[in-house]
Amino acid sequence: MLDGDCELRAVSDIDEAAARWMMDRFEAPVWYPDWRDLLEDDRIRIVSICTPHHLHAPMTLAAARAGKHIVCEKPMALTAGEASEMIEACRSAGVKLSIGSERYNPRHRFIKERVLPELGRIEYSRLIDFYYRDAAYYARAGWRGTWSQEGGGVCANQAIYTWDLWQWFLGGVDLAYGYWANLLHPTIEVEDTACGLVFFKDGSHGKCLATSACDWGQGICGLRIFGERGTLRADDPWLYQMEFTLKDARLEAALRGPFEAAIDPAYAGAFQPWQAADMVAAIREDRDPLVSEALDALKILNGIHWHGYRHAGAFRVWADGLGLPESAEAARSLGWQGGEVMEALAGLVRDPSRRLPVPFGA
Ligand SMILES: NC(=O)c1ccc[n+]([C@@H]2O[C@H](COP(=O)([O-])OP(=O)(O)OC[C@H]3O[C@@H](n4cnc5c(N)ncnc54)[C@H](O)[C@@H]3O)[C@@H](O)[C@H]2O)c1
Repeated sequence: MLDGDCELRAVSDIDEAAARWMMDRFEAPVWYPDWRDLLEDDRIRIVSICTPHHLHAPMTLAAARAGKHIVCEKPMALTAGEASEMIEACRSAGVKLSIGSERYNPRHRFIKERVLPELGRIEYSRLIDFYYRDAAYYARAGWRGTWSQEGGGVCANQAIYTWDLWQWFLGGVDLAYGYWANLLHPTIEVEDTACGLVFFKDGSHGKCLATSACDWGQGICGLRIFGERGTLRADDPWLYQMEFTLKDARLEAALRGPFEAAIDPAYAGAFQPWQAADMVAAIREDRDPLVSEALDALKILNGIHWHGYRHAGAFRVWADGLGLPESAEAARSLGWQGGEVMEALAGLVRDPSRRLPVPFGA
């Protein structure tokens, strides 16, 4: 998508082998072991930050000061406070900031712009995500599985994709809280399971469940947004197959054609080419990138983490009482899809009331 528009002029990585791999693959002539030196290279106009999460904020702040436009991976930062600083730094430096997000998907853009206004008042939403991750995944990179560098587990690294879409559909987040625990990953510090209640700026509320402890629970996972005049629905892990139903069948039929036309079959979840092309267009047209911040997904992350901290032990004990395999690997080999634990949590999330009772009697 970027042929002729961009060239990779330099790579920075503290790991020389990783840098050389990237240089060979994309014909980049220069390696900077220290990323600060890359920022002094006047030939570079855009930087792409795809480092561990704790580096997103400091690297963005420094890149903005150096006058570079910034393409940054998800999650935008570790906290909503850091995200806010990044937005302000880019604004005052006059550089563009673009965050990795599934919002680039043309299907999702159609739903946001054309379908959501037809749903009327949103009554309730729920989002259930299962992403299996084993100990080997965490062993491959030392920053993963740590509070200080990954900033959480399944919530910070995996659920953040769908949480960002969810909050975007509903116009942003006022407040979130929830519960989390590490159920099946004894080698890491952070959560592998969480549930939360989110109050959105449109006045609606929704509930979520995310786990990396076990495989996809058939029939459990996906997004539902219930409006007074229709419903949004996706049952696949990354919500690529988002669909809608409207009570007004004629209106639904009228939107169906443009919806099918908007779907780009080339979009298979790798948003990076769309993000990069959008950044180039944003610079040319002097406009904001399509996703110039993703702060509200961090409000969900931080809200659940901070609230759930003091309940993590009780959550684990409660889940253990319902029967847990020894580890994520054991769960997979047993074909365990969450058993009573995930059924109980999914039950809480499916309940549309504006409260999230603790399942474990804290
Ligand atoms: N959008 C996606 O599809 C997708 C997929 C995987 C990861 N990610 C995101 O990409 C980012 C990186 O994840 P990953 O899984 O590729 O991690 P990784 O550990 O495989 O790669 C990170 C790289 O950053 C380098 N690095 C670490 N500290 C550095 C420093 N101070 N200066 C320069 N380089 C440094 C490491 O040496 C490593 O090569 C994360 O934000 C992650 O959430 C996105």
